[in-house]
Amino acid sequence: HEHMLPSLHEARPLERFAQVKSKALNIFSTLIDSLKQSEHFLSTQRRHPKIKGDLLIQLVDDNTKVVSEWVSQAAGIKDIISRRQMKIVFFGRTSNGKSTCINAMLREQVLPSGFGHTTCCFCSVVGSEEREGYMELVGPSDKGEKLPLTSVDQLVNALQDDKLDAGSIVRVHWPKEHCELLRYDVELVDSPGIDIDDYTDDWIDKHCLDADVFVLVANSESTLMRAEKRFFSTVAERLSSPNIFVLNNRWDMPAATKEAAKIRHQHIERCQEFLVKELKSVDLFTAKERIYFVSGKEAVERRTSVKQISSVDNLAVERKFEFERFELKLLECLSTSAVRTKFSKHIQKGVEVVDSLEQLMREIEQQAEDHLKALLRDQTECRESLRLMEERRLELIQVQEGEAGPLLIQARNIVCDICRR
Ligand code: GTP
Ligand code: MG
Repeated sequence: HEHMLPSLHEARPLERFAQVKSKALNIFSTLIDSLKQSEHFLSTQRRHPKIKGDLLIQLVDDNTKVVSEWVSQAAGIKDIISRRQMKIVFFGRTSNGKSTCINAMLREQVLPSGFGHTTCCFCSVVGSEEREGYMELVGPSDKGEKLPLTSVDQLVNALQDDKLDAGSIVRVHWPKEHCELLRYDVELVDSPGIDIDDYTDDWIDKHCLDADVFVLVANSESTLMRAEKRFFSTVAERLSSPNIFVLNNRWDMPAATKEAAKIRHQHIERCQEFLVKELKSVDLFTAKERIYFVSGKEAVERRTSVKQISSVDNLAVERKFEFERFELKLLECLSTSAVRTKFSKHIQKGVEVVDSLEQLMREIEQQAEDHLKALLRDQTECRESLRLMEERRLELIQVQEGEAGPLLIQARNIVCDICRR
């Protein structure tokens, strides 16, 4: 872990996550290889000529089983890590511009947006290697069937499907080659307006527990509503210190009025009060980096080349820069949070497996050593018996030389007999 840090410091925020992910995957590949080697070694010991006796065979079998379980555990963790994404969830009242802001970040009209209640269920956008986008309904009773996605209209119909429950999500797999953001394992989640549906804790349990950053898309033409505040209070109760950004969207409307500065100041005060005092999620200094005044509509129009802003429209240029500043801070926070939380549990498990494997190998080494010592002890005893025998033989030769007759022959016969034995 220590070795990773210097190079990662220099990496751009989103690349940092990809680097940690790829290092973690490499480490787990190595771990799986060595676990498989250990498993192979143990399984061959069963056939070893010196492994005899039920107890020893049972010991080898038990250890092989333990290592096999570690192999599948490590493979499972590697699979989870390979699917790890950095997740941003957007919430806010209906028509505040959640889908519009997501499209602006994607630099493409991926999600449907419009007047009225447009997004009726959770919808996430993830990168796909395929050339055409497709969607998938993911829910308790869905089989993850792939549905073709060629137009936003199709997605509108899918999102307004009555059968979808709060736990379901429409996952849009959008070609990575179209959106730079999606190349970095970022998942953007759009949600229905929190003022319309009676949201349940299900929303938080199913879609928010693994979120790295939340974006509250507020309407700068009005003020933060109780429904929005209540929702985030519940989020803050369930997740300790959630990262929340507030986008005061539709800022193109009040920005042109005479009261713009006063309205902006009011919004800042209220948002800071909400983040710092009510949610207690950040200190005042951090809160200043969490509140932005933007126009999602202008951003998406500019980025999809529908409409460019005039360079003499200073306020629009300011909103453009503010949207870019928001993105930069959001992505920095996203990557920092994801690197910190998305791997630690699995890396910890990996460390436990390595420690246990090391301990097991030490035990086996100890057992082998004990076995070797026992063999050596037997050999020493043998050597001592042979030495005694040789002494006895020499004594008998002396007797043979000193005495005559049948007694001598009898003694030689005894020696020959002993030697044969
Ligand atoms: P639901 O999905 O219905 O909850 O709404 P939403 O929050 O996703 O809003 P959506 O992105 O669909 O935008 C609603 C309408 O507001 C659309 O017509 C957008 O074009 C418009 N809109 C979004 N952002 C802005 C903005 O910054 N300024 C202005 N003027 N209009 C905006
Ligand atoms: Mg929407």
